[in-house]
Amino acid sequence: MCGIIGYIGQKNSTPFLIEGLKKLEYRGYDSAGLCVLKNKKLYTLKKKGKIAELEKDQRLKNISGLIGIAHTRWATHGEPNERNAHPHFDCHKNIAIAHNGIIENHTALKKILTKEGHRIISQTDSEIFAHLIEKFYQGNLEKAVSQTLKLVDGSYGLVVIHQQENKIIAARKGSPLIIGVGQNEMLVASDTAALLAHTKKVIYLDDEEMAIISKDKYSIKNLDGQRLNKQIEEIKWTVAQMEKKGFKHFMLKEIFEQPQSVTETIRGRIKNNKIKISIGFNLESIERIIITACGTSWHAALIGKYLLEQLAQIPTEVDYASEFRYRQPLIRKNNLMIAISQSGETADTLAALREAKKNQAKTLGIINVVGSTISREVDSGIYLYAGPEIGVASTKAFTSQVSALILLSLYLRQKQNLPLDKKILVDLKKIPEKIKEVLQVDRQIKKIAFAFKDARNFLYLGRGINFPVALEGALKLKEISYIHAEGYPAAEMKHGPIALIDSQMPVVFIAPKNALSSKIISNMQEVKARAGKIIAVTDYPDKEIKKVAEYIIKVPSINNYLSPIINSIPLQLLAYHIADLKNINVDKPRNLAKSVTVE
Ligand code: F6R
Repeated sequence: MCGIIGYIGQKNSTPFLIEGLKKLEYRGYDSAGLCVLKNKKLYTLKKKGKIAELEKDQRLKNISGLIGIAHTRWATHGEPNERNAHPHFDCHKNIAIAHNGIIENHTALKKILTKEGHRIISQTDSEIFAHLIEKFYQGNLEKAVSQTLKLVDGSYGLVVIHQQENKIIAARKGSPLIIGVGQNEMLVASDTAALLAHTKKVIYLDDEEMAIISKDKYSIKNLDGQRLNKQIEEIKWTVAQMEKKGFKHFMLKEIFEQPQSVTETIRGRIKNNKIKISIGFNLESIERIIITACGTSWHAALIGKYLLEQLAQIPTEVDYASEFRYRQPLIRKNNLMIAISQSGETADTLAALREAKKNQAKTLGIINVVGSTISREVDSGIYLYAGPEIGVASTKAFTSQVSALILLSLYLRQKQNLPLDKKILVDLKKIPEKIKEVLQVDRQIKKIAFAFKDARNFLYLGRGINFPVALEGALKLKEISYIHAEGYPAAEMKHGPIALIDSQMPVVFIAPKNALSSKIISNMQEVKARAGKIIAVTDYPDKEIKKVAEYIIKVPSINNYLSPIINSIPLQLLAYHIADLKNINVDKPRNLAKSVTVE
């Protein structure tokens, strides 16, 4: 989704802006632009398409200056083209702005501005900011921005420059902005990825806060102009973690990183056969859990429901965050809301969390990005420590989310003194080794991918705790290979999807050895009887499965509660290899964004 980078210092800002934009590329975008201030004049360049288009343009060489802002746009209001790309300007081109988020009352504001003579040239809501600031500007940019922000409904991560002022004004509401504190230079970005190469010292802006940034100092204020004391924090991620390290794509690297990322999630959290996680509030009174999330994180949440109900014995519901926030859910004081999010910035998940907080539920985050908005708004949290996830399709974050949910469920069980089979802890410690083992199926999966790369549809079927794995396998495939795929509980197939099965339909079964094994074999037979092509992911390739399956992907055996971690990995690889064989840009599939910060 849209990205912002700004620079103010003693060096030419253009290379900083271009490099910063490249670090934000993974978030997804369809146009890019920059604006630099030199000798009290603004110079700008905008392009539809990739940042490479900006770099190719000869005019970029003539753009230099010590202050600049830049933006990658993911189209919401208006198609991706140069006119709609940011930065946007006021009528006299004195002011440049870059904006992430959505102005909800932009139609009303546009009407007023147009009546007053402002000429708004783009189809975006964002351009309104430049004109409002122009309207209020009387020699003080900070004042004009704060007056503007008071009129705007909606969300913003906003950076503003004015040709008469050597400063950047940054402001945030509902869309992240982070100030990077350097040596005689300051940066501002919507994502720490764009700051890391220059500084690890950062200040996270909170909602309705403004930063007034010059090359060697900054102040943070609320919209009424009162100064706020904000702490400088340190980013723990390293530049090396953001590199591909010889892998063809970030996604493949991240799939292969899972032995390490899951190790980091469980590290230090199992000691002397006890789960050690610190939750900053009393869990004893919790009578009901609601998990909210989107996309892949929602699939982890569904697995969490099985874990929390079966291991912790606490009634648990799972809700899409986008539905939860608007359906006037019944939330009580003794309810716990768990928000799961890799990025910690997903707008719907954040809104659902706020809804729960408004109703006085306790809140807990399962988050990867340290310092992200959700991680700062929850009462307590479990960080994943999975490292940066750059590939748009979530892989290692998912297995770490499931690991964190296992830890939480066992912890809640322990808190209630319910008996615990220690074997699950033994298996949990072995998980990184088992992941290494399952990654060895990569070669075989490449061959399977070759056989099915031209399929038009796929079905993924699983049961019990592995039903959400089927959903996740289908999501991975559709988002990066553009092949239509559906996930279903295997038994549900008979109630409709079975009509789709013929010799052109590959059906992936997640079929671990457990109490439901014989049932899933019956489901396989139903598919085989209709000439469907079965790919079985299983730890017990017995003769019944061999009889019906075209391909068997053998995975290591593990405790059933942990099996979603192992079983999801071959499905990630299958999606990856099919997409790669189709020459799709796996890390940046069309229309998708890494972090969805708008509704
Ligand atoms: C799919 C994917 C998305 C995200 C979803 C939520 O591979 O990555 O479905 O899972 O947008 O994102 P987070 O977890 O950042 O809240």
